[in-house]
Amino acid sequence: MNQNRQQRRTLMQAVVGLAMGALIPLGAAQAADPVKVGMMLPATGTFAALGTAIDNAFKLYVEEQGGKLAGREIQYFAVDDESDPAKATENANRLVTRDRVDVLVGTVHSGVALAMARVARGRDTLFIVPNAGADDLTGQLCAPNLFRTSFSNWQPAYAMGKATAGMGHKTAVTLTWNYAAGQEAVKGFKQAFEEAGGKVVKELATPFPNVEFQPFLTEIAAIKPDAVYVFFAGGGAVKFVKDYVAAGLKDSVPLYSSGFLTDGTLAAMGGAGEGLVTALHYADGLDNAKDKAFRAAYQAKYGMAPDVYAVQGYDAAQLLHKGLEAVGGDMSKKAEMRAAMRGATIDSPRGAFTLSKAHNPVQDIYLRKAQGNLNPVSGIAAAKLDDPATGCNM
Ligand code: BEZ
Repeated sequence: MNQNRQQRRTLMQAVVGLAMGALIPLGAAQAADPVKVGMMLPATGTFAALGTAIDNAFKLYVEEQGGKLAGREIQYFAVDDESDPAKATENANRLVTRDRVDVLVGTVHSGVALAMARVARGRDTLFIVPNAGADDLTGQLCAPNLFRTSFSNWQPAYAMGKATAGMGHKTAVTLTWNYAAGQEAVKGFKQAFEEAGGKVVKELATPFPNVEFQPFLTEIAAIKPDAVYVFFAGGGAVKFVKDYVAAGLKDSVPLYSSGFLTDGTLAAMGGAGEGLVTALHYADGLDNAKDKAFRAAYQAKYGMAPDVYAVQGYDAAQLLHKGLEAVGGDMSKKAEMRAAMRGATIDSPRGAFTLSKAHNPVQDIYLRKAQGNLNPVSGIAAAKLDDPATGCNM
């Protein structure tokens, strides 16, 4: 290369370098761009209403901050995941690889979320889970970039198992959709129920999202256990409770569940859910100012009461905000941002919570008893319950 060409090249490199680095510091360049948030949630199917509640409340929080978090606009990219694990990897890749989102938020269904976690891990993309309870997300698959603002399937189920035994029941039959969430819920219930001297005498399951419950109800009526524990949510929960009542079982075999059975579903049950006792990390009538303000704002904006899914979506936005604040909106400071998220206290409508080392909420699990369209709190089934995080090495 002759000397002139070499000089021209050096000059060009200096100009490019200045434009990219020295003249415009990275933080300032980033601040001009929005934070790209990939919302991967169900908009159709049995969990559609759950996805909408998460989306609504995440956006409500951002709007309450004036549409910006730590000075940066938020731009949304949405995918309807249909609660279909078979499409999950492709859907997550669309957001992470094609749209190049800065943060992936989702989803409701455990099986879909497990696939999302693998995609997010591969690209080291920040991933916030606002519902899916798969134990492995904050167990074997725990990772520095993966945070959850909801629960592990074990948490409410374990608390319900303890409470069911505490009510004097000795035998139980379980029934669930046969996928990670249901299997893990049954495992958590059984662990606590049997630790306390009870016995699960039969475990029944049907593929997700089947709602043909009649054969199982016939079997439960024949077994006559002291209690039944189920995991169902969304549209399937409505159908199950109506069928349980229609089969004449509600008065003879008490029905218990993780609170997803009755959260956001009581109105559609039309009275069938009255009196059902469930355990969950949220309840109606909690005595805290944050909950009151959140409920009023959600009702005013969306014309309906929020549920647990809305709370989890709101808290996902709060957690992202904590991280962005700590780095002045500069998401290239990954380690600093994640450390701030890990150490955050979230002022949640459910009551303030912190995250475990595995990035799962350490939280109170409430007992609730359904009344009208509400799940008023009746006690605490397990205080400051931490997930065992089996297999998490972080
Ligand atoms: C789950 O798949 O993890 C799940 C779905 C609905 C409600 C709760 C958990």
